[in-house]
Amino acid sequence: MCGIIGYAGHRPAVTVILEGLKRLEYRGYDSAGMALIQNKELNVVRAKGKIRELEDKLAFQDPYHATTGIGHTRWATHGLPSEENAHPHPDQEQKLALVHNGIIENHARLKRELQQLGCSFRSETDTEVLSHLISQELKQQGSVPRAMSTALQRVEGSYAVALISLNGEGRIWAARHSSPLILGLGQGENFVASDIPAFLPYTREVVFLEDNEIVQITPSSWQVLDGSSLEHRDKEQVHISWDVQSAQKSGYRHFMLKEIMEQPRVIRDCLAGRTDSSRATTLLPELDHLPLPRRLHIVACGTSYHAGLWARNIFQDWAGIPVEVEIASEFRYNRRIIQEGDLILAVSQSGETADTLAGLRQARQLGHRVLGLCNVLGSSIAREADGVVYTQAGPEISVASTKAMCSQMTAMLLLALHWGRMGGFLDEPARRGILRELEELPAILEAELEGMQQTAQRLARKYAWCRSCFFLGRGDHFALALEGALKLKEISYIHAEGYAAGEMKHGPIALVDPEFPTFALAPGNALQSKLLSNLQEVRTRGGPVVCLAPPGLDQDVDDIWEIPAIQAPLNGFLFLSAMQLFAYEMAVYLGKDVDQPRNLAKSVTVE
Ligand code: M6R
Repeated sequence: MCGIIGYAGHRPAVTVILEGLKRLEYRGYDSAGMALIQNKELNVVRAKGKIRELEDKLAFQDPYHATTGIGHTRWATHGLPSEENAHPHPDQEQKLALVHNGIIENHARLKRELQQLGCSFRSETDTEVLSHLISQELKQQGSVPRAMSTALQRVEGSYAVALISLNGEGRIWAARHSSPLILGLGQGENFVASDIPAFLPYTREVVFLEDNEIVQITPSSWQVLDGSSLEHRDKEQVHISWDVQSAQKSGYRHFMLKEIMEQPRVIRDCLAGRTDSSRATTLLPELDHLPLPRRLHIVACGTSYHAGLWARNIFQDWAGIPVEVEIASEFRYNRRIIQEGDLILAVSQSGETADTLAGLRQARQLGHRVLGLCNVLGSSIAREADGVVYTQAGPEISVASTKAMCSQMTAMLLLALHWGRMGGFLDEPARRGILRELEELPAILEAELEGMQQTAQRLARKYAWCRSCFFLGRGDHFALALEGALKLKEISYIHAEGYAAGEMKHGPIALVDPEFPTFALAPGNALQSKLLSNLQEVRTRGGPVVCLAPPGLDQDVDDIWEIPAIQAPLNGFLFLSAMQLFAYEMAVYLGKDVDQPRNLAKSVTVE
């Protein structure tokens, strides 16, 4: 959600910033801009729409030679997507400009105050108050860090900001509060960005900034200061193992397809070094300090929530741990009973989702333990939780989350195994069997993906006319049905609802007619006959039915999509991939913007 890149170095800043912005495109945006200082003047170039509109504008300007600058992709919250509302926002006297991610909640009050001081506003954004506020402080304080410190202490809400000022050519200042900001350290060049891919071609050495810190970078130096006292803070430098390749499409047409096809590797990477087959045990030192949970509260949003729902029965069956799964935006406001010995598991690919982070903070404030399950190293949830298990999926660029769910499912299987052994719930032969199947899973999935893509393509073309449909499942496959529906709607804009198959007759079946297909997940488990009866109810009302099932299904439906028969719950990985591919092929066939669907952002850092 919005992207920031700031560059201080020796290369032409325009090129580095444009490249960085393109690598942040996946976060979702509707306008873009950059600010540079050249010939002692502040230059701001902004455009509504995609980055190519910004490039077109830049092509009509005198070339910029500046080697320092800031850039931004904006996902509109306050004010429509427009050139005036795009960032960077300069102050009144055009002496500084800044870019901002997040929301300034008390912007209306600050704006009134600044207007009384004579500031005139040129945009409808909340961000513009920051430019004027820092500029006013700069007049009083004389130094940018001091001005930022005083101004930011008055701000309520969330922010990551990067700023350039005529006061300090060649420098960038940045600060954060509840919105990610990372420092990239190069040779004779330094970066600030809201996500690592923005500067990945130049450096893999990073420093994660904390709330209430201000950073100053020049091409040859960087310094992190305490946001209140402005005293120097020592920071740890971290080496990121991702390479540039992992943040590129590598020959695939879309990131989403690449990420679906990567899933066998993602499972292997998530398991790597975390199992010991000889002792039939897991190796998760991250959990060493945590006692066996009495009850687990899984808190997450979107696809991560579906991963949690999928894992619920597994925690119960393998470890005997009762599980509540809750949408984070509800969890943070609901009163509930969390007891001594309960553990909150905050599941988030990005580790920055505002609702999940707020749920984590609230739980910790009340004295409960929180374990993070995150993909992004050093993300807020990873840092603020009492412990973190990383899913090790590598950067997920497509807005539609795919490989992240696969890695979360794998990691939760490991957690269930770990606690199953710890609580004496799973004996050694059972653990050995599960570990063997888990190790075989990537190869099975690898062998299937290509064929699945062909089936997905055929079925997507056949059903591309539909405007609404159901995804049905029971048990673990109900969670997967929800995910199948989410994937289809978010990238193809076809209305899809996931339902527990048995719930159909209590209302939703009223929708069924010949123009309302149903996609059913029928894994051949103990509930198969019940599910097939539910499908007959749909067929009787003229609804087309596509059934995803293991070979050998003898059922009168419109299409059968054969999914190899492997042991539950691991068969979930095959069903999941099939539905991801179906949504992907549908979106491609309908000509939609697969990797950056309308209205969506990769990481939802606002409430
Ligand atoms: O980064 P997170 O896992 O916390 O993100 C949660 C959701 O915003 C995310 O899964 C969203 O639903 C995706 N667009 C789904 O594809």
